[in-house]
Amino acid sequence: MTRLLLGVTLERICKAVLLLCLLHFVIIMILYFDVYAQHLDFFSRFNTRNASRAHPFSNSSRPNGTVPSYGPASAEAPSPSTKPSTNQSATEKPLQPCQETPPGLVGRLLIEFSSPMSMERVQRENPDVRQGGKYTPPDCLPRQKVAILIPFRHREHHLKYWLHYLHPILRRQKVAYGIYIINQFGEDTFNRAKLLNVGFMEALKDDEEYDCFIFSDVDLIPMDDRNLYRCYEQPRHFAVGMDKFGFRLPYAGYFGGVSGLSKSQFLKINGFPNEYWGWGGEDDDIFNRISLNGMKVSRPDIRIGRYRMIKHERDKHNEPNPQRFTKIQNTKMTMKRDGISSLQYRLVEISRQPMYTNITVEIGRPPPRLARG
Ligand SMILES: *[C@@H]1O[C@H](CO)[C@@H](O)[C@H](O)[C@H]1NC(C)=O
Ligand SMILES: *[C@@H]1O[C@H](CO)[C@@H](O)[C@H](O)[C@H]1NC(C)=O
Ligand SMILES: *[C@@H]1O[C@H](CO)[C@@H](O)[C@H](O)[C@H]1NC(C)=O
Ligand SMILES: *[C@@H]1O[C@H](CO)[C@@H](O)[C@H](O)[C@H]1NC(C)=O
Ligand SMILES: *[C@@H]1O[C@H](CO)[C@@H](O)[C@H](O)[C@H]1NC(C)=O
Repeated sequence: MTRLLLGVTLERICKAVLLLCLLHFVIIMILYFDVYAQHLDFFSRFNTRNASRAHPFSNSSRPNGTVPSYGPASAEAPSPSTKPSTNQSATEKPLQPCQETPPGLVGRLLIEFSSPMSMERVQRENPDVRQGGKYTPPDCLPRQKVAILIPFRHREHHLKYWLHYLHPILRRQKVAYGIYIINQFGEDTFNRAKLLNVGFMEALKDDEEYDCFIFSDVDLIPMDDRNLYRCYEQPRHFAVGMDKFGFRLPYAGYFGGVSGLSKSQFLKINGFPNEYWGWGGEDDDIFNRISLNGMKVSRPDIRIGRYRMIKHERDKHNEPNPQRFTKIQNTKMTMKRDGISSLQYRLVEISRQPMYTNITVEIGRPPPRLARG
């Protein structure tokens, strides 16, 4: 009996030891390959470091444009053996489409308006922006061409900050864009939505390839470059959380500040209303137009869609429009006749500045019975 018991226990111990041995072996193998892989990694890193260090020694004073990019295109970079005998210069290499999420974004940004700003500084810091405030990413093919339209009058000071912050952000976002300020001529009551309609028409005259339109107030600066200035499946509202509203959406149907519509979305709602003179209401009318045409506003995450507003006194001739509450009740009736289809204006001047295009336009004045408002 005891002997039998002893035999069974011994057998069990043996099995256990065998199992342990196997386990040990497996772990050793794993570790071995792991270390081996690290060695490989180490050597390859050593090699590339050597290779890159070789550049300064070789002292081929190459133009900056040919510095290899580390985007997705680098996967198919030519092997060293390919001879540069053909005339294919690096700049003629077919570009890859820009990545859905641009790789160079930095996230949350520090925005302040206390340091002095000058147009010369903006120009100096954005040498790759072309005349008229245009830019195209040099290293990838953008999916959209974006016209950024800013309704404007007497806000030169704000414009400098806007350009100072937005040009670098848009560049990091790999946007192909043009900046247009739509400057209302004269001192009659301001009309934001009508100016934006003009901007749509004039931008397309300037470049018919624009397929996305972003409408931005001149005093609103995004605080996060992950808030991508492009058009989406649905009309986009970018300015979700402004500092003046405690970084919250003031109400569910808010569409003010900064918004964006593709060309087809804009045409589907007959553009914006022309009849909102003075401050307020036009953004709610636009929201109604979008809903009534079966579309739904899309927004970035509240943590990303943050904005800083440059503080200012209310402008002269932009008093709150007393009719705005009754007018937005009637969008359904008015939108078919009032919009891009009924737009009338007189172009005063288009001037191309280094950092933006200035479109000055006469858009008339409110009908006499409203003039007092
Ligand atoms: C690394 O660089 C040194 C000196 O520049 C050179 O002698 C060596 O051959 C290089 N090694 C490789 C792997 O390129
Ligand atoms: C690099 O090349 C330039 C002109 O081609 C020359 O003036 C310079 O001395 C060179 N530098 C080195 C470190 O060889
Ligand atoms: C290359 O870049 C440096 C600094 O970024 C600049 O000083 C230089 O002029 C550039 N050269 C060319 C050919 O673009
Ligand atoms: C390369 O281009 C130059 C001028 O750009 C031209 O004269 C030359 O014939 C071209 N060579 C080849 C191989 O295409
Ligand atoms: C835009 O052009 C108009 C008309 O020439 C001019 O009065 C205005 O100062 C310009 N505004 C800006 C910001 O360039």
